[in-house]
Formats: sequence, structure tokens, C-alpha cells
Amino acid sequence: MADEKNPSRGNGGGANGGSNVGSNGGKTGKVGLVERVSTGVKDDIHALKTDIPSKAKEQIEGLKDPTKTQVYTSIFRHKHDDTPRNRALGVLSNVFLHLHPAKINRDAVRYSYTWGMGGITFYLFIILTYTGVLLMFYYHPSKVQAFRDVLYLEHDVPFGKILRNMHRWAAHLMVIAVWLHMFRVFLTGSYKKPREFNWNIGVLLLVFTLLLSFTGYLLPDDQLGFWAVTVGTNMARATPLLGHEGPFGSMLGMTPYNDVRFGLLGGSIVDANALLRSYIWHCIGIPIVASVLMIVHFWRVRKDGGISGPAPVMLEAEADKPRRGPKAAGE
Ligand code: HEM
Repeated sequence: MADEKNPSRGNGGGANGGSNVGSNGGKTGKVGLVERVSTGVKDDIHALKTDIPSKAKEQIEGLKDPTKTQVYTSIFRHKHDDTPRNRALGVLSNVFLHLHPAKINRDAVRYSYTWGMGGITFYLFIILTYTGVLLMFYYHPSKVQAFRDVLYLEHDVPFGKILRNMHRWAAHLMVIAVWLHMFRVFLTGSYKKPREFNWNIGVLLLVFTLLLSFTGYLLPDDQLGFWAVTVGTNMARATPLLGHEGPFGSMLGMTPYNDVRFGLLGGSIVDANALLRSYIWHCIGIPIVASVLMIVHFWRVRKDGGISGPAPVMLEAEADKPRRGPKAAGE
């Protein structure tokens, strides 16, 4: 403001002042300089008188209502009054919430409809990933070390026993939860159009959940796991075409040393290679594939119009009451 009124001040004064002194003679030049300096000082004092109070007022207003400050509006870009638009923006403009739909069918997310089983399955998978990574700090997938590591975890590592058992119980529960989830989807007919594709993704997720369980079984390298995997992989001998005892297997040149069972175990018996292969499938291969499938599964739930949900119900008691929720405020 002061500079607009007195442009020469902005240029440092020295260059202009110097040339004035030179052209107008010493006295006039000095008077001009003094005048300009005093006008500049007056302007500054004026600015201080008007700007400081207005800034102070602004700051006091900010303390009274922080939602009006520049800092606040730079973070939160919309109002918070309870209108449908603001409720939608609250979800859409939040980095953590924006993956969720802005609006959902209230009846579709009732536990009595979903049983919460898809969500529970997912949370168990998160727990398994977390505890599994911690277990990896103590476990070596070798015949010499594996069982000893488990004993060490059980008896010496602080919280080792609870860590191992959290992993085991979450694994059991995940298998139960995924079956119940599938059962609920079946009972509510949610496999029908347009959700056929997601049902198929679900079937793959079920298979990978079971494979996670099966590959984890061998890792403690105890008798239970050893014999379970021996029996389980022996079934692979009878695979059609790919197993040496299966239909057409021998005709295709399958032997105990080149068939699908050999590929699973990395040998013809359950030994060190089988342990290492189980470990890699269990900790890296299957979790990555399952995670990608889960992302596709959740994305598909959105694309198919959200959770199927029952036909919207309104209780008699609700019919008289004013409606709550997004529509009520906007209507
Ligand atoms: C790791 C395994 C799985 C996870 C984490 C998972 C997770 C979920 C979640 C969170 C939902 C939203 C609704 C709800 O919670 O019920 C859902 C819906 C769905 N799931 Fe799964 N699911 C899994 C396995 C399966 C399996 C095995 C099937 C069937 C074979 C399946 C088929 C479906 C279908 C069709 C829907 C849409 C249901 C609807 O719109 O009502 N899912 N899943």
C-alpha cells in the first residue's frame, strides 16, 4: 500500500535519490529526499494502525470459531452441516474413508443379513498376516531348526506361546468363517445375477484359504503335520492326467518322480524340500494371490451395486417417526 503511493521507495531510494540530487542541486534534492522518507514513514504508520487491528481481529475470530480460519479450511474443504451433500463429501474427501461407498442400503449391512462373516474373514486374514510376520522372525524352514524353533517359541520367547496360538486359532476361525460366509451368500441367493463373477472369485478365495491352512500344517515339522501332508499329497497321485496313479497318468508318462505330487513336495517323499516349498507357498505365494483376489472381491461388491440386501423393510413403529439419515435432512 505504502509502495503504491510512493513508488520510488520500492526501488531502494538510493538510485533515484542520487539522480535527483545531481539534477536539481543539493538543497532541493535533500528536501525531496526528506519529504519522500517522511511520507514513507507516515504510510508505514498508517498501515500499522489499520493492518494490525484487522489481523488481530481476524485471529480473535479464529479462536472463537476455528472452522473459519484459513488453516482449517485448507484441511477440511467442505461444511459439516447435516445435509446429504456434506455427508457424502465427508466420506469422499477422506483418504481413509473414500474407498467406502458414500451411500449404502441400511438393510443390506445389518448383521442379521450378512452375519458379518465376510468382514470377519477379512479381519482374521489381517491378524494372520500380522502374527505370521512376527512368527517369521523366529522360524527357520529347515529340518534341523523348524521343530526346535517351535519349542523355543512355546517355552522361551516372551509372548511366543500366545503369538503362536493367536496364529493357529485365527487360522481355524478363518476356515470356519469363510464357510459360513459362503453359506450365507448361498442362502440369500447372492450368487445370482449380477454377482456370478464375484461368487467365482469367492470360490477361489475359499480354495486359497484352505491351501493356506494345509501348507501351514507342515511347518512345525511335527508328527501331526508330517502325516497330514503325507496323506494329503498322496491323494495327488490319483490326479487325472497329472498323477502317476490317476486316469491316463501312466499313458502320459507320469511316474512317482515327475508327476504333480513330485512337484508339490519337491521330491518323492515329505522331506526338507517339501518343508521349504510349504514355507514359501505359505508365507509368500498364497498370501499374495489371496490378497489380490480379496481386492478384486471387494471391488466387485461395489461394482455389483453394494451388498445385495433384503428388500427394504420399514417397521410399523418406524413409519410414524420422522426419518433419520441422509434423506431426512435433504428432503
Ligand atoms: C477370504 C475369503 C473371503 C473374504 C475375505 C470375503 C469377504 C467378503 C465381504 C467383506 C463381503 C461383503 C458382504 C459380507 O460381509 O457378507 C463379501 C461379499 C460376497 N462374497 Fe465374499 N469373501 C470371501 C470368500 C467368499 C466365498 C468363499 C464366496 C462364495 C463362494 C464369496 C462370495 C461372495 C459374494 C457373492 C458376495 C456378495 C454378497 C452380496 O452382495 O450379498 N466370498 N465377501
